[in-house]
Amino acid sequence: METRVIGKSVPRKEGREKVTGRAVYVDDLTFPGMLHGATVRSEAPRGRIRGIHFEGDIPWDEFTVVTAKDIPCQNCIALLIEDQPCLAAENVNHPEEAVVLLAHVDKYLLEEARKRVRIEIEPLPAIFTIEDSLARKEIIWGEDNIFKSFRVEKGNVDGAWDAADFIVEGEYETGAQEQLYIEPQGMIAKANAEEGVTVWGSLQCPYYAHKALVRLFGLPKDRIRVVQTETGGGFGGKEEYPSMIAAHAALLAMKSGKPVKIIYDRAEDMVATTKRHPSRTRHRTGVTREGKFVAMEIDFMVDGGAYETLSPVVLSRGTIHAAGPYSCPNVRILSRAVATNMPPHGAFRGFGAPQSVFALERHLDRVAKAVGLEPEELRRRNFIREGETLAVSQVVKEKVDMGGMMDRALALSDYHAKRRRFAVENLSGPIRRGIGFAAFLHGAGFTGSGEEYLASEVAMEATREGKVRVLAGSTEMGQGTNTIFAQIAAEALRLDCEHIEILQPDTAMVPNSGPTVASRTAMIVGKLVEAAARGIERPLVESGLLRAGYDAAGFEEACRAYIDQFGPLKAFVKYEHPKDLHWDDEHYRGDAYGAYGWAVYVAEVSVDTRTAEVRVEDFVAVQEVGKVINPVLAAGQIEGGVAQGVGFALYENVVWREGRMVNGQMTNYVMPTSMDVPPIRVFFEEIPYERGPAGAKGIGELPLDGTAPAIANAIANATGADVRRIPVMPEALMEMMEAVESGHA
Ligand code: MOS
Repeated sequence: METRVIGKSVPRKEGREKVTGRAVYVDDLTFPGMLHGATVRSEAPRGRIRGIHFEGDIPWDEFTVVTAKDIPCQNCIALLIEDQPCLAAENVNHPEEAVVLLAHVDKYLLEEARKRVRIEIEPLPAIFTIEDSLARKEIIWGEDNIFKSFRVEKGNVDGAWDAADFIVEGEYETGAQEQLYIEPQGMIAKANAEEGVTVWGSLQCPYYAHKALVRLFGLPKDRIRVVQTETGGGFGGKEEYPSMIAAHAALLAMKSGKPVKIIYDRAEDMVATTKRHPSRTRHRTGVTREGKFVAMEIDFMVDGGAYETLSPVVLSRGTIHAAGPYSCPNVRILSRAVATNMPPHGAFRGFGAPQSVFALERHLDRVAKAVGLEPEELRRRNFIREGETLAVSQVVKEKVDMGGMMDRALALSDYHAKRRRFAVENLSGPIRRGIGFAAFLHGAGFTGSGEEYLASEVAMEATREGKVRVLAGSTEMGQGTNTIFAQIAAEALRLDCEHIEILQPDTAMVPNSGPTVASRTAMIVGKLVEAAARGIERPLVESGLLRAGYDAAGFEEACRAYIDQFGPLKAFVKYEHPKDLHWDDEHYRGDAYGAYGWAVYVAEVSVDTRTAEVRVEDFVAVQEVGKVINPVLAAGQIEGGVAQGVGFALYENVVWREGRMVNGQMTNYVMPTSMDVPPIRVFFEEIPYERGPAGAKGIGELPLDGTAPAIANAIANATGADVRRIPVMPEALMEMMEAVESGHA
């Protein structure tokens, strides 16, 4: 397909503003008379609030103080359900739960005051592990501590074990992970009874915050306005939690009658906001002597923390991805998201899939070993092909060639030669080298009927000067929304990107295009942008003002003439779910996603056996994501995702004490720096997806899924260590290597 701007690395739409410092982030904004807001939080994991005491030498009468009693309507942060309070009223259910809000014009005095509020809590017994939650040591949520459970059944697992020559079991764990966006969270609110509530801030989902504020204030929808300011990264961390900060800022603004700004510093952001769900996965896999899967039984658990938030959705994606890109006739997946007295875990790039894919891809290397096959041979014999069915019984209609992609990734990384060479070299010296890989898929868009329910909308308008404006609720957070939307619209209209303007997401101005999550922006919303562009072009052509083969001047001329004759030139489109995609929510079966990204990642590591330090030395990422809209941005998505995956695998260890993160600083919560990230070699295969804009599928979350298991498999290859848990801390690896040395592995 001949393209003008699709497939070209046009510069980032907002890039100039960002590099010159003109881009306006929430903390760059001030309003006259503005106060600063702060949050006083519970130190206890669970208990009854007995009193709130304002102590010390603080001029308390100068402060605006908000507690649960000041909430005009419902005390909740509405998301899927309404279990999470905006401010704890009688009970606290996790450490760092917000109880009191303060505002003052002097932010230094505010900080002093925050330390002098004493929340008196009568402690109740709390639980902190998936095991204790399942054992119902205490019932802390609902009747059984279970937020959600799913059951996937394909074929007959119970009747299949006899056909297996080998049965391999294993248990795998992943830890919590902090999103570590560059810009911490923050919001500014203006609020009064007459005009309603307006908030500006750093966020992914303007309409999530909008919904939460409508419930909290009990105001009509048009009296609540949410505006996204320039957002310095989200990674899922700015999906649900911004609604909480928006609510807090708005309550303080309403009570004080002044604009209120709340900006979290890094420490508060790390300890109080959401992280990736910790997980535990058990596998039982039946395989024939020839290496064919006959049965897979998977038990997948995530720790949701104290409130439901998005745990059902995270669990859903993790469940559906748990059996990977393989064809197995008999599969059972049981999964549960359980409650603990930890701050709620939430959305983080990959949304459950990085957890269950880590377990699967690490497990399959162990299965290969048990069967006596090379890891790549075991995968090759079981890779899904067009026309076969995934675990949720979805028939794959894409032209998928996982075997070919694996061959390419192994060739590019020199896998076979290195495996042979390392096996010899590792016999001497303190440094061991290893190479490993993971094969995986990632569904783009909301799961099952999700997109149908969202029914996303996009609008577009053209000006008399022939400029085209995209009106969408999708947010730019560094990942490239503005640029790819401009490319998609420009391509459809035969224009350059300079002709396209992307309106700042503002619920008073843009329709609800759904949340900016789930690898859905390019594929789902981008397709609506493409359709809206045709909706602009059509009346111009039909009125005879725009001729085939037009150029930019012709387009400008046609817009001027059209608007002069007929008035505004606008288009509006709404998502329509493809008729041939069917999802059965009750049996968790069917077309889980319209399309998948497919990938094979290879990691090479070195391990210093004296310090148990692991370095990732080389990384090859081969993926098929449909047509690549902007090669530089797409490669950036993969590189960033792999870097986060390196952190997930090796460094990012949240230390919990009684449900509190105790290493909430970047000095002791170690993330990879540029020194720790290997060269990341990114390769795309491009098979255009007929329903994606110009053939594009989703890309954003994919790289998180395969990076950690590829690294863990490489560590196992280097040392023989049976890695079951990430992050792989040196002390744990040291023990595993000692077990290998002493023959106990
Ligand atoms: Mo996401 S983790 O779908 O913001």
